[in-house]
Amino acid sequence: MYSYSELLTRISEAFAANPFDHEPKELYEPITYTLEEGGKRLRPVLVLLACDMFGGDIEKALYPAMGLEIFHNFTLLHDDIMDQAAIRRGKEAVHKKWNSNTAILSGDTMFVLAYEYVAKTDPSLLPAVMELFNETAKQVCEGQQFDMNYETRSDVSIDEYLMMIRLKTAVLIACSLKLGAILAHADSAEANKIYEYGIHLGLAFQLQDDYLDAFGEVSKFGKMIGGDIVTNKKTFLFLKAFEIAREDMLIKLTHYFRDPIHEGTEKIQGILDIYRTLGIDKITNGEIESQLFNGISVLESLTVEDSRKTELKELTLGMMKRES
Ligand code: IPE
Ligand code: IPE
Ligand code: MG
Ligand code: MG
Ligand code: MG
Repeated sequence: MYSYSELLTRISEAFAANPFDHEPKELYEPITYTLEEGGKRLRPVLVLLACDMFGGDIEKALYPAMGLEIFHNFTLLHDDIMDQAAIRRGKEAVHKKWNSNTAILSGDTMFVLAYEYVAKTDPSLLPAVMELFNETAKQVCEGQQFDMNYETRSDVSIDEYLMMIRLKTAVLIACSLKLGAILAHADSAEANKIYEYGIHLGLAFQLQDDYLDAFGEVSKFGKMIGGDIVTNKKTFLFLKAFEIAREDMLIKLTHYFRDPIHEGTEKIQGILDIYRTLGIDKITNGEIESQLFNGISVLESLTVEDSRKTELKELTLGMMKRES
């Protein structure tokens, strides 16, 4: 079995060996800029980890794994336009460094490249691989639309939030693991179980992203702190605060989120103070922990030997300490 860091190295080598330096450079430079070092490369590593866990050949999973990373990066180019986010991975977002048209078109090209790479697989597995990828790609777009719809709604429930983050984030993480299982010819019950584990991991991952957006350190997180507050995102943090706030605090919270006068740092500080007073950080960590524990119990039910689950177990437990 390979370790997480060995697999990460293998992914980096594969990207280095497949440069995107084509013409016109205005189209491809932003792609190179996005795919060079900086991202955690969680999704392709999960593809290889699952493939390895089920006894497959990771070399045969390399291109599809890269395809999912290219797809993920494509979503980020468009997401940063939608979220008006200027900084990603501690650098200017593509739509800021270049412009929105560039981020749209380079993003579109990455979407096509993603398909090209995912399709570089054993032809006998192609129908199953494509069915999974197509369904996932559509769901991510559905989740992104719900995310935007919720910006202007004030009655979003926590169940709706969980449905939205399942679509925008968790399904791609689950797809990565299931893809690895399919490429290793795992049986379909096991492939579905690893998918279910991936959903828990993905929900925890997005909850942690929302947490870091409020309580993280910009130098580690690489994104603006308070970006979700500025754009009125209905994160778990906001929804919980809204649920438990009473009297003055509830009025303040509603005011901050409804009144366009409250912008920038004043709004961020005001909301963060409310979150701290209400202990939203601890509540969010509790929710993350419970998703991860549910994930671990699904992992335990897999029929592969326990020793083959160690890397994923460690990754699951390490997820809570993630700062970037
Ligand atoms: C960011 O994903 C988008 C979310 C789903 C939260 P990552 O946190 O995996 O981003 P990179 O690729 O490591 O920068
Ligand atoms: C991103 O959610 C999900 C996708 C890109 C599909 P966020 O909007 O929270 O991700 P970040 O925080 O910008 O990375
Ligand atoms: Mg977003
Ligand atoms: Mg965003
Ligand atoms: Mg975020």
